Amino acid sequence: MKAKNCLIFGGSGQIGRHLIRKLTKNNYKVTVVTRNIHQKSYLIKTQANAGYIDIIEANIFDQEKIVNLFKKADICINLVGILFEKKEVDTFKNIHSVFPLLLAKLSKTNIVKNFPLATILRPSIVYSVDDNFTTNFMTMLKRLPFFPLYYDGKTKFMPIHCSDLADTIYKIISENIYSKIIECVGPEVMTFREILEKLLKLIDKKRILIPLPLSIANFSAKIFEKLPNPLLTSDQLRLLKYDNIISGKYKTNGEIGVPSLKRFDDEVKKYAHMWRDGGQFSTEKYVGKEKIKTDNI
Ligand SMILES: NC(=O)c1ccc[n+]([C@@H]2O[C@H](COP(=O)([O-])OP(=O)(O)OC[C@H]3O[C@@H](n4cnc5c(N)ncnc54)[C@H](OP(=O)(O)O)[C@@H]3O)[C@@H](O)[C@H]2O)c1
Repeated sequence: MKAKNCLIFGGSGQIGRHLIRKLTKNNYKVTVVTRNIHQKSYLIKTQANAGYIDIIEANIFDQEKIVNLFKKADICINLVGILFEKKEVDTFKNIHSVFPLLLAKLSKTNIVKNFPLATILRPSIVYSVDDNFTTNFMTMLKRLPFFPLYYDGKTKFMPIHCSDLADTIYKIISENIYSKIIECVGPEVMTFREILEKLLKLIDKKRILIPLPLSIANFSAKIFEKLPNPLLTSDQLRLLKYDNIISGKYKTNGEIGVPSLKRFDDEVKKYAHMWRDGGQFSTEKYVGKEKIKTDNI
């Protein structure tokens, strides 16, 4: 069987890297588009065996270049996303609306084979050792004596492990599943407070979690968003107001036959020790064992 070619935008990110591994292990070829091949190619190239992956540097709004890539593609996957706006071009409107519209238009005119079967995935928060979520929070929780709780820490999430999300995307592609929107969630519902408490337990720290009045939260977000990589922006604060769990209006990953079974505590435990005092030597493998001798090294 001829390997299908997947054209992936945003493939250097957390979800992209997991997906490249899943697809290429299953005999799909991938072409990954990045804005900076010098900065990102080592990240992308090491996800697949040679022969299964091509990397192309392009501006995502360069229609001429993208049209040529579409000619060789069977499937197009868009993983481009931003959490805060930068400069004039990198706006939410351009990245999350204009660019997907451009892809839809090009898919239709260049007849990407799966175009009529276009599917939108809506994951809850996605975590893994490669994320910017658990890893950043553990860093902050380790360094700060207290941590702010927005909206009293009551916002609910259903975190899904990145490999379970990659399995869902693979199932949709390999079995040509069509559903306009699929919500992708993990097996547990957790509030923001519960997530922080779990992370604190995993890194063996005690911190004060302080509910922050909305006026102060808004003020701090306004200050943070002036930084190049803000910890919190006013848009993110607004998003945090709404629960990020299944809506009941759309199919879920479970309903298309890919239930996520990975539990948050079990998965984060695999890497949380790096934020604990003692690092790897704080794990069950070493605690209580004879001290490692370094004298003769
Ligand atoms: N992670 C989550 O919890 C989560 C939850 C729900 C939805 N999502 C969505 O899922 C998608 C992938 O998420 P992710 O966590 O893998 O994201 P990520 O790690 O932040 O990666 C996003 C990718 O988008 C590309 N990108 C960013 N800004 C761009 C710009 N201005 N122009 C062109 N490309 C740009 C980058 O590729 P290059 O630097 O190589 O160009 C990057 O690899 C995003 O759309 C995100 O919004 C994520």
